[in-house]
Amino acid sequence: AGSGKFFVGGNWKCNGTKDSISKLVSELNAATLETDVDVVVAPPFIYIDQVKNSLTGRIEVSAQNVWIGKGGAYTGEISAEQLVDIGVQWVILGHSERRHIIGEDDEFIGKKAAYALSQNVKLIACIGELLEEREAGKTFDVCFKQMKAFADSISNWADVVIAYEPVWAIGTGKVATPEQAQEVHAAVRDWLKTNVSPEVASSTRIIYGGSVNAANCAELAKKEDIDGFLVGGASLKWLLFVALKTPL
Ligand code: G3P
Repeated sequence: AGSGKFFVGGNWKCNGTKDSISKLVSELNAATLETDVDVVVAPPFIYIDQVKNSLTGRIEVSAQNVWIGKGGAYTGEISAEQLVDIGVQWVILGHSERRHIIGEDDEFIGKKAAYALSQNVKLIACIGELLEEREAGKTFDVCFKQMKAFADSISNWADVVIAYEPVWAIGTGKVATPEQAQEVHAAVRDWLKTNVSPEVASSTRIIYGGSVNAANCAELAKKEDIDGFLVGGASLKWLLFVALKTPL
């Protein structure tokens, strides 16, 4: 861990019910968080208001998606203005499930990022390669291309966290080794240095996602360029956050 405050995001994806989420929030409310860790949870849209209204501490809330511009006649979409209206501070964009299952491309993701930031919604910008891309030696190319699409849409990096999520590690139980993750994080930081600025490179948090759990997070967190985590499955259990109470 190197840049800024350690950041832990819980991406609940399309999981949960009113009851299970109410239980999870009670557990989060009961946990004592380290003061130097930012914690953000991303519930499914339909439960965001419930979560916002029941969280009692300083945990912030993220959406898992947002529309590309101002709201209006866009059936099924949620606008950045609406996120702000109910007090949502963050949005996750570029997640591999939206890139590869839903088919969102860099241009679409870039537009969403620009609009969300213009409305003061902070951004968790996800990048990451597929297994075949890694095996073909294209990991950096893929990540840099995704970074460029984000960078072209971002003017204020203070509101951005980069999440490196190798697709082969997501939901598979096959976590990247600390060395594998560190290698990409360092390359992304270097990319920022060359393509944005040395200041942005050193101040932007680069977090890792992909099968992070209470057992493997401490080793990953020791790496210089790993500034936090975006956690899927394990974030549905509050125990992960207890693990993070130990000094990183
Ligand atoms: O956004 C978090 C994510 O994609 C990782 O999911 O279940 O592998 O921790 P998981």
